Amino acid sequence: MDTDSLLHRLGIEHPIIAAPMGGGPSTPELVAAVSEAGGMGCLAGAYLTPEQIDGEIRRVRALTGRPFAVNLFAGGYHAGIDRDPAPMLALMREVHGELGLPAPELPAIPPDPFEAQLRVVLDARPAAFSFTFGIPTADAMGRLRAAGIVVLGTATTVEEGRMLADASVDAVIAQGAEAGAHRGTFTGDFDAAMVPTLELTAGIAATGVPVVASGGLMDGRDVAAALAAGAQAVQLGTAFVPCPESGAAEVYKQAILAAVDDRTVVTRAFSGRHARGIENDFIQRMRTHAGDILSFPAQNTLTRPMRAAAAKRGEAGYLSLWAGTGAARARRLPAAELVRVLVDELREAQAAAGAS
Ligand SMILES: Cc1cc2nc3c(=O)[nH]c(=O)nc-3n(C[C@H](O)[C@H](O)[C@H](O)COP(=O)(O)O)c2cc1C
Repeated sequence: MDTDSLLHRLGIEHPIIAAPMGGGPSTPELVAAVSEAGGMGCLAGAYLTPEQIDGEIRRVRALTGRPFAVNLFAGGYHAGIDRDPAPMLALMREVHGELGLPAPELPAIPPDPFEAQLRVVLDARPAAFSFTFGIPTADAMGRLRAAGIVVLGTATTVEEGRMLADASVDAVIAQGAEAGAHRGTFTGDFDAAMVPTLELTAGIAATGVPVVASGGLMDGRDVAAALAAGAQAVQLGTAFVPCPESGAAEVYKQAILAAVDDRTVVTRAFSGRHARGIENDFIQRMRTHAGDILSFPAQNTLTRPMRAAAAKRGEAGYLSLWAGTGAARARRLPAAELVRVLVDELREAQAAAGAS
């Protein structure tokens, strides 16, 4: 193996990373299963307290001695409410009424937890750290480097990839327009940052930085195409949501397994940030209230009781069903088996390409 390669630096066998999936799917069991299978699992720390992140890291380490990553949100955090919240509160009061929940309250937004969360990561020293929504300060990047942690940052345009390379990340995660859940866009227009995964991968790889392709990749053939476009590894989210080790609500797993064609939409309805998911009642209802949506994380906090109640009741209409454009091709396999199948399909696709 090329000793400069990203896989070598991460200490993993296969070029497959299970995406960090905040809000439940990325359990320590999922992370450990993917790492044990020779890929790399990634804990989603952004919505967790420092104590919870510490606990999850310990749990992964109890399950595997293999390398894994931890992920945080490095930006995009608006401490406060950026507009009159009355219209959104009124709408949520209606929804709560229908779901039999107490009236919603205006969320109190604590200061950005990133620095306290990062301290836990620095102490625990996982093999890798990934981030999205921005770029950590030069000081934070220096501390990560000093701790010997491989750092991966998320870009949705070639320009963001360059900014990340300038901040000396070890690799850029090229998050294409097809990707499930939140867009990592942190500079420029959201609309201009909807670049298809393979296009973005090739564009960022051409700048010379190692690339991890992410977005809409569901099988080994997709992985082969991403590697052929210049990626050194891939990061799959939606493909891992239905795994038994995933902590996603059963109704959410079923929605992905039942998805047809490419019917996902990008919405700010649930969190205040653009994110891709399967269209449902809440997204449709919010279409006429786009101007009233609060910023992230206020909108996310405000809709949390609704989402939690919907998950508990198996009510898909009011749950964030995050999924990439490839959702219809998701399979229900244990995580380690999914990694094995992806690797087999990748080898087949590469052999077929070599033979032609
Ligand atoms: C349910 C879900 C939650 C996600 N949470 C995070 C997160 O916390 N941090 C992050 O960097 N990316 C997160 N992502 C985005 C992934 O890193 C990745 O870009 C995306 O899953 C790739 O597209 P795919 O879902 O089509 O594979 C999430 C994706 C999903 C599906």
